[in-house]
Amino acid sequence: MTQTHTIRRPDDWHLHLRDGDMLRAVLPHTSRHFARAIIMPNLVPPVVTAADARAYRDRILAAVPKGDDFTPLMTLYLTEDTDPADVAAAHAEGLITAVKLYPAGATTNSASGVADFTKVAKVLDKMAQIGLPLCTHGEVTDASVDIFDREEVFIDRVLDPIRRQHPDLRVIMEHITTSNAVDYVRANDKNLGATITTHHLVINRNHILAGGIKPHYYCLPVAKREEHRLALRAAATSGDARFFLGTDSAPHTDENKLLPCGCAGCFTAPNTMAILAEVFEQDGALEQLEAFTSLNGPAFYGLPPNGETLTLVRETPQFPAHIDTPDGPVTVFDPAMPLHWTA
Ligand code: DOR
Ligand code: ZN
Repeated sequence: MTQTHTIRRPDDWHLHLRDGDMLRAVLPHTSRHFARAIIMPNLVPPVVTAADARAYRDRILAAVPKGDDFTPLMTLYLTEDTDPADVAAAHAEGLITAVKLYPAGATTNSASGVADFTKVAKVLDKMAQIGLPLCTHGEVTDASVDIFDREEVFIDRVLDPIRRQHPDLRVIMEHITTSNAVDYVRANDKNLGATITTHHLVINRNHILAGGIKPHYYCLPVAKREEHRLALRAAATSGDARFFLGTDSAPHTDENKLLPCGCAGCFTAPNTMAILAEVFEQDGALEQLEAFTSLNGPAFYGLPPNGETLTLVRETPQFPAHIDTPDGPVTVFDPAMPLHWTA
């Protein structure tokens, strides 16, 4: 049996680092393994201007542990007031790598997101023109749409119209959770990619709801039926260049997760690589792990893959149940299965 598996150093194409004490507590768990990450802008207040992104990037760089080599790839939070010229200037100076679309109210700190999509048409035109990609949180927020259908409805009502109106816009469907999204990506080979999280490859909605409610498995988009998880596994392990890793590692303190109205998010940064190695090996696809974590993402974003490597060793890894932060403990995602690879 293979005892080591070496891949190019991975990147995380969707990550929440937060700010302040939480940033300093969680960042080392990413920078240990990952060379780069697309940084989500949903702070309070959100990262909406180039000046916000520059200041946040500098706070992240100041928090990188000594000896780690980590590059934050910054994003701007798209609002109905976003100025196309500010976005273009931020892109031209190499400050931002993408713009993030949150439908207003879709998830954590998304109140300033977009409600009327016609109001962002000019920004999207500019982005298409300069080749700046759009990352999408793909859920409608219409209260009449069942939460398990929100991704599928988003594709029809929002995403497909945007892509028809802006055919040159490069779009990343982030943290996809349904076979509908997998099918939509497969049917569209121009300017469309998708990220898949670690946790959505492992859990379905039963893990959250059957046998007692498990708040630490609650995230958005919420995990769906088993058939959808299997479609995500098939996409991730296929080697298809349109699918790549975006962990959506989203730390919240236990106090905030375990409220009567608890926060959405799974903290997967510490054990993502160990879990992915297990998942890919289970599916007989360890040879495709590198494509998913280290090659497909850079290719989509037009960046070179990392030069360094990461070696996984066949050894039972140890992870704490939670990490301590000055704000309180943050529970580490439990894949509820034995792991056999240490990164
Ligand atoms: O589960 C999630 N947590 N999904 C999101 O879209 C946001 C994230 C967060 O910021 O906590
Ligand atoms: Zn996210």
